[in-house]
Amino acid sequence: MVIGLGYVGLVAVAGLAKAGYQITGVDINIKKINSLNNGKIDIYEPGLKEVIDEARLNQRISFKNIAEIKNIDCGIVIICVGTPSRPDGAADLSQVEYTIEWIKERTINSLTIIMKSTVPPGTGELLYKKYLAGFSYKINYISNPEFLREGQALKDWFYPDRIVIGGNNNKAIEEVSALYDSLNARIVKLDITSAELIKYAANAFLATKISFINEIACLCDCLGADINSVATGIGLDNRIGEGFLKAGIGYGGSCFPKDVRALNFLSTINGHNFELLRATIIVNSRQRLLPVQKLRSYLGNLVNKNIAVLGLTFKPGTDDIRESPSLDIIRLLLDEGANVSIYDPIRKNLNINLFRKDQIRFGKNILDTVKGTEAVVVATEWDQFIDTNWSEIKIVMNEPFLIVDGRNCLDPCIINNCGFIYSGIGRAKAHER
Ligand code: UDX
Repeated sequence: MVIGLGYVGLVAVAGLAKAGYQITGVDINIKKINSLNNGKIDIYEPGLKEVIDEARLNQRISFKNIAEIKNIDCGIVIICVGTPSRPDGAADLSQVEYTIEWIKERTINSLTIIMKSTVPPGTGELLYKKYLAGFSYKINYISNPEFLREGQALKDWFYPDRIVIGGNNNKAIEEVSALYDSLNARIVKLDITSAELIKYAANAFLATKISFINEIACLCDCLGADINSVATGIGLDNRIGEGFLKAGIGYGGSCFPKDVRALNFLSTINGHNFELLRATIIVNSRQRLLPVQKLRSYLGNLVNKNIAVLGLTFKPGTDDIRESPSLDIIRLLLDEGANVSIYDPIRKNLNINLFRKDQIRFGKNILDTVKGTEAVVVATEWDQFIDTNWSEIKIVMNEPFLIVDGRNCLDPCIINNCGFIYSGIGRAKAHER
């Protein structure tokens, strides 16, 4: 049984069903269950629908609303519910605790709980003592964090760099390890708290790598160097590695911002000032402001200026806008009195009360969005933006024809040759050419 059918839960259902297991996916959201039972998936994750459809055809999966489950008689329950940020930065564990109590009330045999939800180090031991130790049925607790990236979650599931299994009972660790037998993966077996810390440390390290390269990008702007060339040059050192060295307007999404804040909170309440992590957070918040500063420096004040923002999602390949830098940029532009038009290849709405509807205009396509604007901000590096015909764009725009490339994904030479001013992040040299 998999409880919580968001990105992680649905991918776990798909991956385990593909490996031949019989899976029941459970969620509290009746609408979600109804649409899953009608063959619809409410998230955009390439390949997921196909794997779930195949499993449905082979009768390996069923989806149920939580109220439909009276008894739990399976040997393994995987928890994939949300652990959002509380206002103080800590992880809100209320969904996790509710789920454990719910399992306890319904189980009719011994079982193993696998925690895939991201919970702060120390949580598993605490939950075990609080809810499971001494319970009438033996319930094992295993921490098995996920490292799935949105947009390539299935690839990450089937070809993981490693699988982390933390527990205090060897038999349960082996039982969970066997679930992944069909994958050719290195398995790291350890205690619960260390497993939990691996998840946070990995995300914090990657977030820090991004903020580090963003700091170097700012230095590039001061010195007249080009960050993309610098990143290539340092990334080729095997000890550093090429990944997560793309400078830009910073990281967003459902994991990095929340997990970095939670680790910072956890460090603080344990008496450790995690200085490096705080700097990572500060740099990331600052990067989001850069496009607006750049627009101001070229356009003066932004009142009644027409500005297009291309890209809403926190990265390409997903429809997810959680903590997307793009939203902060749009908000700032509106505060400054600009008229904002928006286009994203996948995300076609903002069903959230973030903006008043009359403040923004959704363009039908890239050309329609940039029509009559003085400047364009590229906030997400979708291929459609990289491959667009920028000469056509120039024809429908107004002076000074400014392109702020928040993801350094465009070729400055092409953009300059089309007659635009190009301004990237840490690419001072580029727009002078
Ligand atoms: C991340 C982790 O990679 C994954 O292991 C974890 O389970 C969940 O969080 P995800 O949020 O899907 O996955 O996105 P990822 O591809 O890691 O990118 C995160 C953010 O960092 C995006 O906003 C992206 O634009 C930004 N980023 C990434 C950079 O700004 N520069 C980079 O070099 C890499």
